[in-house]
Amino acid sequence: MMKRIIMVLVLIANIAKADEGMWLPQLIEAMNFADMKKNGFKLTAQQIYSINKASMKDAVAIFGGGCTSEVISTNGLILTNHHCGYGAIAALSSVDNDYLKNGFFAMTASDEIYCKGLSVTFIKRIDDVTAQVFKNVKSGISEVQKDSIMQANIKRIETEAKAGNQYETFVRPFYYGNEFYLFTTEVYKDIRLVAAPPESIGKFGGETDNWVWPRHNADFSMFRIYADVNNKPAEFSVQNKPYHPAYSFPISLKGTELGDFTMVYGFPGRTQEYLTSYAVDLLVNQQDPLRVKLREQRLNVMEADMKKNDTIRLMYANRYAGVANAYKKWSGEMIGLKKSDAVNKKKKFEADFLKLTESDPAKKEKYFNLFKQFEKAFGDYAPLSKQYDYYSECLMGVDGFRMAAGISNVMLELKKKQAGKDNKFATLSKEGMPSLPFKNYNKATDKKLCLTMLQIYLNEVDRSLMPIYLDSLFKVYKNNVADLTDYLYQNSNMLDNEKAKNLYSDVEKNAGLIEKDPMYQLALAINQHYQKAVVPQTAYLEKQIAQLQKEYMLSLKENIKTKKFYPDANGTLRVAYGKVSDYDGKDGIHYKHYTTMDGLIEKNQTGEEDFYVKQRLIELYNKKDFGQYADKNGQLRTAFIASNHTTGGNSGSPVLNAKGELIGTNFDRNWEGTMSDVMYNVSFCRNITLDVRYTLWVIDKYAGAGYLLNEMKIVK
Ligand code: ARG
Ligand code: GLU
Repeated sequence: MMKRIIMVLVLIANIAKADEGMWLPQLIEAMNFADMKKNGFKLTAQQIYSINKASMKDAVAIFGGGCTSEVISTNGLILTNHHCGYGAIAALSSVDNDYLKNGFFAMTASDEIYCKGLSVTFIKRIDDVTAQVFKNVKSGISEVQKDSIMQANIKRIETEAKAGNQYETFVRPFYYGNEFYLFTTEVYKDIRLVAAPPESIGKFGGETDNWVWPRHNADFSMFRIYADVNNKPAEFSVQNKPYHPAYSFPISLKGTELGDFTMVYGFPGRTQEYLTSYAVDLLVNQQDPLRVKLREQRLNVMEADMKKNDTIRLMYANRYAGVANAYKKWSGEMIGLKKSDAVNKKKKFEADFLKLTESDPAKKEKYFNLFKQFEKAFGDYAPLSKQYDYYSECLMGVDGFRMAAGISNVMLELKKKQAGKDNKFATLSKEGMPSLPFKNYNKATDKKLCLTMLQIYLNEVDRSLMPIYLDSLFKVYKNNVADLTDYLYQNSNMLDNEKAKNLYSDVEKNAGLIEKDPMYQLALAINQHYQKAVVPQTAYLEKQIAQLQKEYMLSLKENIKTKKFYPDANGTLRVAYGKVSDYDGKDGIHYKHYTTMDGLIEKNQTGEEDFYVKQRLIELYNKKDFGQYADKNGQLRTAFIASNHTTGGNSGSPVLNAKGELIGTNFDRNWEGTMSDVMYNVSFCRNITLDVRYTLWVIDKYAGAGYLLNEMKIVK
């Protein structure tokens, strides 16, 4: 008996660690509030989330596709990361007007620049719709039937919730489809750039420092939301006015010290804390290493060309950053998971779980079988996942293939049209075509990418698993990939602006030419092969795994009653809380909890390219004119770390103190801690926050845009 109790306690300790978790704001009151208070939080749960009164949630918004932003003034000024605004800033930049390189600071409202395509999304309310989603899902019916009933229920819930109002709605699964929540949102579309530091400040440290502590970059940019006369979302118009939010965050200049309570409010994208040993094994021993290797090759090609030419640098800057970011994260994750023996830890956990439930014979058999099914499914899935990665990370890393494969969808619709069938040709031939002249594409660079990726593909992929047409091209070219690439890039009409313009001027008329295009033929063959040989089986197995994972999640919740389970991140609004904390890195290294501008200058003095800053910054530093932004030692703090559980999507999230005042902007995690997406560990997983005092110093002292502080509520 004693042994069992000890074992259960160990099991619980293993998965219930303080500081771990991304909590649902509407459940804070019930699930976390007592704990948050104990850790120093000074406000009420309603101040975090309320649907009747203005609360913090009204000042936290999804920024663009996948970041978070926060409202920091009653005039709709929002703060996010530089790397979140990066795409928008790059799109507004040209070689002559390079806002990436030089920064941008609006000096009056009329300087603010509209960012086409950018949106900011607020959450109006969150409702549990689990019962409605499961309505009419009876036991005994097939999975396919269940699925279609649930999908129909979800559609109905979403439609009903937005009938008669201006909101958008979506339903998301939680706990692997054991629960469902409805999100009602308001999407603002007139967003204007207000402030961005030069890249040498915002992205100081570049790829060298990315995912690494200590940090010294002011990773921020500011935008403003504009609304119509009724303060409602509207398309861009000069008539629009700055948005007046229900709530905006006060900003504290008091800073934060070791052990202080901190909270991160934002939209974490994806975590997988409840994976089995089989999934972690696949991740750490196959998926991460392969994806890392393929991306490294792509990055090398892009980097070489970007260094040579500013136009190419601007074309590829955003993409390079994206590819590099995941590349580096996966390598950190892989190292971290290996070092902490994650697969064996999961195995031990699974064995303990079986022991915990073995006294109940029905459970014993059920869970034993569950793990067996996982084992089988992952055994089947691993080789398919590898094939798919060679498709998506290798072949589709080449723009030529990607664009030509896109055209094949248009041609498919044309075929239907010509056969007199229902078709979407009219819309697709407008919307599904690449915009010309090509954006962010350089033929010579892409050709090098093609050569590199095809060479890897030829070396590493079993010939029996290749698209037949590609295999025969390799044969015809005697495995000389350079010759094959020359042939494609010389003869295709889809790869330069002028030829493509002619070709695409009338898709229907030129259908014959398109179909004869060598790039088109190869991309089509590649796509068809993967769509037939890999995608269906992959999808089938992923569905099966999802089903098992759903059962497993439920079994954890049902059997481990002492633990509060948070749902994995899924791009929805969450609260994480923890403490400002230092940590031990590699043997002999202890990391302090904050950095200062002294460290920025130290890095700069190494002369390394990624640590370049403009003379102006160095001069200001030498004057030590830190004003109200200095800490008690007279230093200017740049960043700090804490134990908040965060992930991609939390970039730009407000980091708040115990009183709910903004003390910084979340922008990264430490290298050792990137494994927290799969296995959080409080002793070394840290989120990295840009100290808001550094942000304001850059705006005020560096850029001379201190007037922006007038609209903020600054707490001194
Ligand atoms: N690692 C951070 C995040 O995951 C920052 C990424 C952008 N910066 C970069 N150097 N690529 O998004
Ligand atoms: N930089 C990340 C983002 O864009 C946040 C860092 C993380 O993944 O924790 O969301």
